[in-house]
Formats: sequence, C-alpha cells, structure tokens
Amino acid sequence: MCGIVGYLGKNGAKDILLEGLRRLEYRGYDSAGIAVWENSKIVISRSVGPLDALIEKTTAELLVGTAGIGHTRWATHGDVTEKNAHPHRSSDGKIVLVHNGVIENFSAIGKFLSEKGFSLSSETDSEVLANLIAYHYAKEPERENCNRFLESVRRALLHVRGTYGIVVLCADCPQEMVGARNSSPLVLGIGNGEYFLASDVAGFISRTRDAIFLNDHELVHIRGDDFSILTLNRERIAAVRQAVDWDLSAVELNGYRHFMLKEIFEQPKSLANAMRGRFFADGSTAHFGGLQMSPRELRHIDRIILCGCGSAWCACLAAEYLIEKFARIPVEVEYASEFRYRNAPMERNTLVLIISQSGETLDTLAALREAQRKGFRVLAITNGVGSSIAREADGGIYQHAGPEIGVASTKSFTSQLCIAALLALHLGRLRDLSYEEGTAIAEALRRLPQQVQETLKLSDSIRSVAERYRNCRDMLFLGRQAMFPIALEGALKLKEVSYVHAEGYAAAEMKHGPIALISPDCPAFFLACDGLTLEKTISNIHEVRARGARTIAVVPGGGTFPETTADDIIAVPEAHPAVQPILAAIPVQLFAYHMGVLRGCNVDRPRNLAKSVTVE
Ligand code: AGP
Ligand code: GLU
Repeated sequence: MCGIVGYLGKNGAKDILLEGLRRLEYRGYDSAGIAVWENSKIVISRSVGPLDALIEKTTAELLVGTAGIGHTRWATHGDVTEKNAHPHRSSDGKIVLVHNGVIENFSAIGKFLSEKGFSLSSETDSEVLANLIAYHYAKEPERENCNRFLESVRRALLHVRGTYGIVVLCADCPQEMVGARNSSPLVLGIGNGEYFLASDVAGFISRTRDAIFLNDHELVHIRGDDFSILTLNRERIAAVRQAVDWDLSAVELNGYRHFMLKEIFEQPKSLANAMRGRFFADGSTAHFGGLQMSPRELRHIDRIILCGCGSAWCACLAAEYLIEKFARIPVEVEYASEFRYRNAPMERNTLVLIISQSGETLDTLAALREAQRKGFRVLAITNGVGSSIAREADGGIYQHAGPEIGVASTKSFTSQLCIAALLALHLGRLRDLSYEEGTAIAEALRRLPQQVQETLKLSDSIRSVAERYRNCRDMLFLGRQAMFPIALEGALKLKEVSYVHAEGYAAAEMKHGPIALISPDCPAFFLACDGLTLEKTISNIHEVRARGARTIAVVPGGGTFPETTADDIIAVPEAHPAVQPILAAIPVQLFAYHMGVLRGCNVDRPRNLAKSVTVE
C-alpha cells in the first residue's frame, strides 16, 4: 500500500524524509507529501504524482527543521489529488499525520466530529483520523505523568475500526512524534541520537540497521532522545531490537535500468540463498530450522492448504504440484481473500501454509489468523523478516531473497518455488520418497543457480521476441501440469508491467472456450517444458497456428522440440521436474519486462499497483 516515514533527530529532516520515501516509493506512488517542523510551525508540502514532483517542489522550499513525517500514497478513499495527499492536518491545526491503511468507520467518526465543530477538507479516511486525535487532544487535560499528545492518539485509536500504520506530529510538541500500527507495518529505526519510523526498514536502512518491529495495537512515543513503546491498553513493552541483515546496495539500482531487471538477474544468488544451509548431511533431503514441527508431527499431516495472493498464489499452485508429486500429501490451494470467508471444512491434521513475499498482505494475514482461530497450525514462507506474517505464524521458512523493490514479483516468486521444492523433498523423505529420488532432487536444486545463470543469457533474444509482439493487445499463456502455474504467473506478469490483456490457462482447456479468442491479433505463449505431455502441447500449438495466431514456446533445451512448431522458440536448460518450472519462469519474467519497457510502461511502478497490499 503506501509508504510512511518519520524522523526526529539533529539533522535536517527534509532530505532524510525524501530519501526514505524514495526507498518506499514502490509501496505506492499516486501522490507524496512531507510535513516538517519549521520555526515552531509544522509546514506541509504535497504533490500529486511520483515522488520526483514533490522533490522538485520542496527544492524551492526552505525546510530546515529536524523533525518531520512523509507519505507516498496508494489511494483507497478519495481521488488522486493534492487535497487528498498526505500528510493531513486537523482543522484546529493541532495534529498532522500520515496514514497507511483504511479506517472502516471513518464516516461515522466524521459525522461525530462535524457535530463537534471539526471540518474536513479532503475525501480521505485519514484526515478523519487526524481530526479524531485532535478532538481527544482538545479534551485531554494536562495531567501529571500522562503525556497529553500520546494519550490523545491512544484514545482516538480505541475508537477506530480498520487498519493503520500512522506517524503523528502535534503542534504543541516540537520534540515529539508518535507512531502506531494495526495490520499495516511500522518499524522504529534507532540511530545515533536520531529516530526513524517507516513502513519497512528500506525507509531508513541508509542511516541505521538497529530496528524494532512494532506489533499490532502498539504505539511508540519518541520524545527528544528517548522512546517508549506501549500497547493500546497502556502496558509498557520491553521491545526487542533487531539488527537488519541487508545493506543499502540491496535497495539501489547498481547500474541496472530498472529494479525489475536487477532482481531478475539476482535470481542465481537469491536461489542460492534460499537453499543455503538447508540440505541434509546425507545429500538426500532438506531440513529447516524454523518449522517448529517434529518429524513425527510432519508425518501426521494429512492435508495441506496453501494460501496466498497474486504471484504468491501462483507459487502456491506450483507448490501443490511439487508436494503432491514428491510427498504424496493432498494439497488444496486457496486465494487467501477467499479462504478467510469460505469456512472450508478442514480435517484435524490439516496444515495451513501461507506464502507471502512482503509478509504484510492483509488478505493473507487474515487467512493466517482465521486458520489459527480455528486451531490449525500455520507455517509461512515469506521474505519479510520480522513481518506481521513472520511473527504471527507458528513457524516458517524465510526466503532470504533480499528486498524486492520492483512491484512485480520476480526473484521472490522463484525463491518461493525453490523453497516449495525443498519442502516437498523434506516431506517426501519423511514418507515414501527414496534415497535415490531425494538425492536426484537435491542435486537438481544445487545445479539450479547455474542453470538460471545460463537462462538469463537469453535476455537479448527474448527482447527481440518481445519486439515482434509489442503491439499485441491480448495474449494467452498456456501450459500443462507443473507448467500451468507458470502460465498463470506469465499472464500476471505481462498484465502487470505492460498492460497487455493476458490470460493463463491449462493448455488443454484452450479448446473449451478460450480458443475463440485465438486470431492473428491474439498470440499464444506456450510453456512446453512438461515432458509427459509435450506431444499434446505440440498439438495445441498446431491448433493455434492453424487459426492464424502466432506462437511462442518455452521448451527444454537439447533439441527434442521440432523447430518448425512455434513461431518463436525459447530453449531453457532441461532439468529435473522439481526445478523445471523455475527455469521456465525466467523467460516469462524477461518477456514481460521487455514488453513493458518497449511499450513505455513504468515496469518498476506500474499504474494502480503497489508492492504490498495492506488493505482488503
Ligand atoms: C506480483 O507480481 C504482484 N506484485 C502481486 O500479485 C503480489 O504477488 C501479491 O500482492 C502478493 O504479495 P505478497 O507476496 O507480498 O503477499
Ligand atoms: N486510506 C488512506 C488514503 O486513501 C491511505 C491509503 C494508503 O494506505 O496509502 O489516503
């Protein structure tokens, strides 16, 4: 969703806030704004559009204060206008805030506030929250041992239904800042005599790695050179400080034109990191340190429900093929947003496995909470160290892929598939998967980073292919068996970064309707790397070509695929079925990237999208 930052220290806040927003811009970029303390007043500057517009605007503005807040917006309530951009100030001028999330009962609160003499100048739910805090601040008497500003925020939040990550300033308290969270992330960065608040550590990683991840219903009060953390019920929290283990270069382009391309090319490293230390000594299986489940407990699982959203959902579907094939455990895949309401009947020994790159996707977090509410054990595969999902799951597996700045999931997707293969291996070897089969899978996984390195060399040729398809408006992605999830992911990638209407189908399904779309204007992209069904996939390609449509086919190298079958053939290294889907994913990522660039799209920050969807 959006990115929020706060700074209180001894250096100029403006540049620190703008740098923090730059690092968080992938979270939302409809508009941006900062509020900085200036000559005992809080000055606000906002602009519509990407952060560059705000940077240009504030260049002319002399803002030298040493405390402030900032926001990059992904609109939920109210059009994309400067009036609706954050930060928002209460109508009495006392409170200024930035907000990530949705205040569900904002209408009722707004009506209450207007009866109390507060007025609203925007269409957002966030401005209502600023005025609610101001209302409580006006009512709150000065009391011994009770900070009036902090208490007004706390009381206001007790009346809020919905989600928030907020950073708040008060016009009477120049050396204070309050943050709070519920379902939207907020991290405290502790520097040398300076404090940072941000939606994630990328917002302050250049200045400190010393972080505290707030939990839901917690507030942080920064006052001068000290801070405290408390719950909404005013219980003091002895917070756990964590050292962030990645550095600034991870959130910089380092010579690449786009983060998406950088992260596609990081995959040999991110895959190696996903596997580091996770092969068992005898080389025939995998092991994990964070499952918090004994082998005996893992053996008793009789069903796995996989939940995720977007590309993470595609990863869930790919994991289903892997786990059912190699571990012989029944698997169901659910959209997290559907699972949380579906009330699906679940057997006693069902394990719920959540996949989420950010670890903050609200629909996925809600699915986790729903499964736990029913008493089921929930594991998570996530890249978000210290994220809400990581902290609330009963156990899990970190991806260690490093931050993924591009909105489109690339290295994270293949990292999730790699971990799913390791997990399938681990579960399989607790059951009927033989030593030989396990060793073959482990060796295929060890070879994978090198094979991906080889596949990345296809980038220029895939760009040439994209040039031939750059003007198409529609495209079908088709694959069978373990290639079907990759077809779905390929369609999602192309939609996301090039705005071409693309749909993914099981290749055999094409005959049952979608083939009506096939025409010279609707090419088809085949994932033809499933050996068992290759002949049938070749027949599907012929069916498409017979109707005048162009065809692209990703095929396993080694020359077994007839050259004349498709218009454009992309050969990837032939590999074990456990890793072939990952190799097939690389060309669909590169194709989507080059199509987006050729069509002049902002592939790192596609329109309407945000990296982490922390609203429902
Ligand atoms: C994928 O390219 C998209 N950015 C989006 O579908 C994403 O996968 C989805 O929002 C889930 O995000 P998560 O993995 O952080 O939960
Ligand atoms: N709901 C707020 C708005 O629409 C915040 C959205 C966000 O999280 O970016 O401005």
